Amino acid sequence: MKAHVISDGVYCLHADIHTGELFEGIWPIPRGVSLNIYLVQGEKTALIDLFRDWTDAPRQIDEAFASIGVSYDTVDYLILNHLEPDHTGWLKEFRAKNPRAEIIATAKGVELVKTFYKTTDGLRVVKDGDTLDLGAGKVLAFYETPNIHWPETMMTFETSSRTLFSCDGFGSFGALGGHVFDDEFSAPEHAAFEEECLRYYANIVSSFSTFVERAAQKLSALDIAAVAPSHGIIWRAEPKRIFERYRTYAAWSKGPAEKRIAVLWGSMYGNTKRGVDAVIRGIERENVPYTALRVPDENLSYVLSEAFRSSALVLAMPTYEYAMFPPAAWMLDIFRRKHIFGKRVLRIGSWGWVGGAKKEYEAVIESLKWESLESYEWAGAPEAEDFRILEERGAELARAVKG
Ligand code: FEO
Repeated sequence: MKAHVISDGVYCLHADIHTGELFEGIWPIPRGVSLNIYLVQGEKTALIDLFRDWTDAPRQIDEAFASIGVSYDTVDYLILNHLEPDHTGWLKEFRAKNPRAEIIATAKGVELVKTFYKTTDGLRVVKDGDTLDLGAGKVLAFYETPNIHWPETMMTFETSSRTLFSCDGFGSFGALGGHVFDDEFSAPEHAAFEEECLRYYANIVSSFSTFVERAAQKLSALDIAAVAPSHGIIWRAEPKRIFERYRTYAAWSKGPAEKRIAVLWGSMYGNTKRGVDAVIRGIERENVPYTALRVPDENLSYVLSEAFRSSALVLAMPTYEYAMFPPAAWMLDIFRRKHIFGKRVLRIGSWGWVGGAKKEYEAVIESLKWESLESYEWAGAPEAEDFRILEERGAELARAVKG
């Protein structure tokens, strides 16, 4: 990959990762992911964030360095906005190539350098508002943005190009190909990235939405010309677009999202599924958009993303050994961890010799601040009266979504 010029002396070097390996060991990335790092050259040179040795990332980044005639040993400062190993895993190799560069991070970041990489050499702590003058008009300013998405995170602003290096913040899944800038992608490509941005946010950032709001508020005081995250597109034509998208997502964590319904269902022998079909007939009667995903067949990454974007949920699960169908219990545990708050929810399901899902469900959702319609359960196979009630409940939920 060639390096991409953001402005005079400010470059993006990136690696596209295509792998069957899961991101964070959990989330599938069928469209890949990019690892972006940045180089700022004044009289001194700063490298902003690193990468990990993942597929052939080191080779791709080496090529980008070579394309601008720069090597690792010319770097004076290594800025680490965030210590998660996808941005720092190459640190030992970097140190072997360059033993003299100062490594700059927040106080918590420096502690994590020691924790992960067992090094104490050449570390410098910066705090909110500190600056680093690289000479030749290039100045880096540091802004602490904790919990986007680890406690040590900061963002770095280069003042001459007005570029915000935001690491995970304002990022997305999806490999970039030959382009990196927002104005280089077609509308369909942007639509695909938007889906991946939503899934990235729901999977990785959603638990920290309060911190996203705080950071967006704090950073809005800057005159930002480009937002340059460490995953995904660099926003130079419409930097406000990704800011607003993240603000919208942060708001969805707490209250109404899109006027649509996520129908999330599991079924053992088809009886709960027949109930789901009746609920869907009610939703369709009211012309509210919905997406139905079966658990555990559908990967939880997509289930989480669909739940996150929808104002209402249908959760359909049979009773299984006196409790919830286990894949549904797992799904709810993820919803709780990822702060899927503020939804309108209808829960339904079939039971065999005895119930039990309802009791466990009600205990599990207590912290989720959901507005629940009355649950509906039936014994064994649903009958005509069950179908009538289920269809009506679906329509009731859809009307509530329409508002
Ligand atoms: Fe891309 Fe939190 O690491």
